[in-house]
Amino acid sequence: MPKMMPGTKPLLLVFALLLPLALVACDDDGDGVDDELVRRSPASGETPPGTTPTAAGQAVAASTAAATPAPPTATPNADGVYIVACHDFYVPLDKVHRLEEDCAPNALVSLPDEYAYGPQEVVEGVLPDLLALLEAASEAGHLVAVVSSYRSYETQRNTFEYHVNEYGLDQALRVSARPGHSEHQLGTTVDFSSTAVSYELVEAFGSTPEGRWLAEHAHEYGFILSYPEGKEVVTGYAYEPWHFRWVGRELAAEVRASGLTLGQFLLR
Ligand code: DAL
Ligand code: ZN
Repeated sequence: MPKMMPGTKPLLLVFALLLPLALVACDDDGDGVDDELVRRSPASGETPPGTTPTAAGQAVAASTAAATPAPPTATPNADGVYIVACHDFYVPLDKVHRLEEDCAPNALVSLPDEYAYGPQEVVEGVLPDLLALLEAASEAGHLVAVVSSYRSYETQRNTFEYHVNEYGLDQALRVSARPGHSEHQLGTTVDFSSTAVSYELVEAFGSTPEGRWLAEHAHEYGFILSYPEGKEVVTGYAYEPWHFRWVGRELAAEVRASGLTLGQFLLR
């Protein structure tokens, strides 16, 4: 557990998002899916590089580790959702791209207690950059802890259902991914928080010194803020100043320089 931390709280029940309801996703047909994301997906029948369409219209990755991101999807399912390759750190995951239910990382490792708010796991290859980021924050005077990390399909199902029951479907869709659609299922994505906001996941975290430091420096360690402020119409999700996805330092620099959201960059 991190130093200066209050008592333990249930991790997945602290999503006290105090956001205004003014933002409206680009959902012209009211189906809860960002239509811009649908438009940016490969056209039906199109086969992007590195993929092989299956009889079911899905795709399998030609290789396990992509050096550069490529949309690994071919044809959407009947519901308009694309299945993306498992074990590929560079797949788009949004309202219309998802992982299979049985997709789970091969090698998960635990975070050291001093940086973890409760047990936290990430993909082994992500740990060095994550520790470097947390140590750099600490050296800069910012005590930051990981409050959520790898989440299985099943855990995400429970998380999403919690939000639906607590806030209703419309609000849940703004702040929580449906199972299969969460970047947390990759094992490369973490939520940070700090004592300043009682280790909760709230928009106010973005205005704290810790949140500001992360926004400015996380990319130097390979992490990108997936859901920036003012981009809900693009990402499909409300501002999440705590949610960072690892893509490696080189790619993170490119994403940052592009000015695009991570989702836009991966689908460009
Ligand atoms: N809160 C983000 C969108 C997730 O559930 O993955
Ligand atoms: Zn998150």
